[in-house]
Amino acid sequence: MFTFETNVSKSFQFENLGLSVGKICVIMYFVLIKKDFEIMENQAVLKAQGITKTYEGGTSAQVLKGIDIEVGAGEFVAILGESGSGKSTLLYILAGIDTPTSGTVELAGKCLDSIKDEDMASLRRREVAFVYQYDNLVPHLTAYENITLPLLLDKKKETEFKERIVALCNDLGIGDRLNNLPSEMSGGEQQRVAIARALAIEPKVIFLDEPTGSLDSERGRQVMEILKDINEKHGVALIMVTHSPAHAEYASRKIIIEDGQIK
Ligand SMILES: Nc1ncnc2c1ncn2[C@@H]1O[C@H](COP(=O)(O)OP(=O)(O)OP(=O)(O)O)[C@@H](O)[C@H]1O
Ligand SMILES: [Mg+2]
Repeated sequence: MFTFETNVSKSFQFENLGLSVGKICVIMYFVLIKKDFEIMENQAVLKAQGITKTYEGGTSAQVLKGIDIEVGAGEFVAILGESGSGKSTLLYILAGIDTPTSGTVELAGKCLDSIKDEDMASLRRREVAFVYQYDNLVPHLTAYENITLPLLLDKKKETEFKERIVALCNDLGIGDRLNNLPSEMSGGEQQRVAIARALAIEPKVIFLDEPTGSLDSERGRQVMEILKDINEKHGVALIMVTHSPAHAEYASRKIIIEDGQIK
């Protein structure tokens, strides 16, 4: 019998409700786990408010006209829009690579307006990764060296990560290209090296600008499956620009940019 004695000596017998000690423990376990998940899901990894961007030049143009976005931990968000609508511009600003003309961005709990250089460097080494629309690999380093560079800069030992990185590259279909320089790989292979480099640091957030843009449809689908798997298993938030409605379907939320605003 499971009895709960109060200080006024009244006793409450759970057996009266038909609950055994075992059942009560299981219920409490699930209540606590659910609470933990709710807290994790509610934590925003990205909050952007009132983002505008005007490029001053020959003809000054306001590309972004007041964008608010919030992304929760572990969310997978797809950003769509026509060519020239400002998707890459927005992604650069959200990731802290470019600055907005006005508005604020809070990324992984840090306000990018006032972030110190060393905090920004640490954010990039451990918490936030970016896969560029066009290749951004170091030309004189091999694929393996490109992928592991952020880990070595973060003073990680190769014995701790080598096996994991090789397995990841095998999954991405570039396991046999690891000793090649970028110039010795196809565009699609280079793009998968860039994706492996982003995944290697096991970040909280990955920004991806058309990660499947130079892949054929079968490779593109495989990369999307890997991204989805990493999002679901490891809770990495993904913020991905894509032109492909089919690839946007892998995301849990879609945002469409039109005329500098969210549609
Ligand atoms: N550095 C810059 N200076 C001036 N204008 C720029 C600059 N970068 C981008 N633009 C302009 O801003 C607009 C949005 O560009 P952006 O690259 O964000 O578009 P996009 O939606 O990513 O397009 P795409 O789908 O073709 O990649 C375009 O009209 C572009 O010409
Ligand atoms: Mg773009």
